[in-house]
Amino acid sequence: MEKIIIEGGHRLEGTVAVSGAKNAALPILVSALLTEGWNTFDNVPDLRDIRTIKSLLADLGVQVETSGSVVKLDASGLNSHEAPYDLVRTMRASVLVLGPLLARLGRARVSLPGGCAIGARPIDLHLKGFEALGAKISLNEGYIEAEAPSLKGAEIYFDISTVTGTENLMMAAVLAEGCTTLRNAAREPEVVALAEVLSQMGARIEGAGTAVIKITGVEALKPTSFTVIPDRIEAGTFLVAAGVTQGDIKIEGCEPSHLQAVINKLRQTGITIEQEPGGLRAIGAETISSTDVKTLPYPGFPTDMQAQFMVLMCLANGLSVTSETVFENRFIHVSELQRMGADITVSGHAAVVKGGGGLTGAPVMATDLRASASLILAGLAATGTTEVSRVYHIDRGYEAIEKKLTQLGGHLERVPG
Ligand code: EPZ
Repeated sequence: MEKIIIEGGHRLEGTVAVSGAKNAALPILVSALLTEGWNTFDNVPDLRDIRTIKSLLADLGVQVETSGSVVKLDASGLNSHEAPYDLVRTMRASVLVLGPLLARLGRARVSLPGGCAIGARPIDLHLKGFEALGAKISLNEGYIEAEAPSLKGAEIYFDISTVTGTENLMMAAVLAEGCTTLRNAAREPEVVALAEVLSQMGARIEGAGTAVIKITGVEALKPTSFTVIPDRIEAGTFLVAAGVTQGDIKIEGCEPSHLQAVINKLRQTGITIEQEPGGLRAIGAETISSTDVKTLPYPGFPTDMQAQFMVLMCLANGLSVTSETVFENRFIHVSELQRMGADITVSGHAAVVKGGGGLTGAPVMATDLRASASLILAGLAATGTTEVSRVYHIDRGYEAIEKKLTQLGGHLERVPG
């Protein structure tokens, strides 16, 4: 397995372009299942998870053509309703095919995704939503089997605001008979982007981006074209990179309005963040101020930025508390950061970080996508050399991160494991 070797202590400076958002591209590519004819999506990032979803869609009979960041999909030849275990277990977002397959074919057989490093990540709320729309759901040999000769609009209340749950139910409801209301819906920009694509296809959706989304079912949808929104988490990761290296980075192509909680929090630590034409500029501070953070569903501080922020707090001038309220086990990066000299104490959903001790390079292991990003940030800030192994985790969500950071003056090299 490949590793990334990082020589720490180099200030990052220059301009970097943000790629399309993985978590927007995934549901948008899947939405092609709802149409017949060619959809064209641009600014699709070249990531492991994107390749996984494209092969899953191809297995279902979708024609998929990729040219650079443009992906074209035609689901006229949809000829299967099954998402196999070996694909779903490598990428849980594969469960997003449930909604469109139910809407288009009236049935779906999708492997239960199983847990992952950051938590059990059940999909009970997805399944309850489909049952509310009239689907019969059963579990056999690790597979979800869903049958729905016809879907009827319903009132659906999510006990917990779920991003892919909201997306899955939106994609089922757009072709259901009558009206569906999703309450306590997720408000993430990726949900709004999917709603825009569906609306362009002819769906009738109101309230995307708020906690109440109303959908009036239509007979059929038609293919469309769309440019995927920029990745707010990749942009946030580069903002933190400026902070941990006292750098000066211009981040092009990001959408500041998607990053307000992150920008606000990072400014509290002393990082200067300015809005510039086409993006943001972040200038790291000599002294980093310790600041508490609590992760929350959008528009709160994103859980996908928690590990990255913690690295900054390791370098800050005092004590800070990081509270992780979204996932039950998202402190796996802590033990790796401790190997680099971080002083962090975890107690339940809170991690107390005692800053000021600095970080020293060490061999560390990536465990999940965002934890691996935090280890790379730590390596940039550490004295000495850091070896991050199992970098396939990071390739799931960051397009050529070592190239982008090297272009900014970082000393990183990807080597075979
Ligand atoms: C999406 O995951 C993202 N993935 C995650 O990004 C992100 O961390 C997460 O939203 C939260 O923002 C994609 O969009 C592909 P949830 P998702 O359903 O939809 C519980 C990354 O690094 N829950 O919003 O799976 C769940 O356990 C990834 O890019 C239920 O209990 O997350 C969690 O505690 C990691 N039952 C909370 O809700 C359900 O049926 C939020 O999960 C569904 C969710």
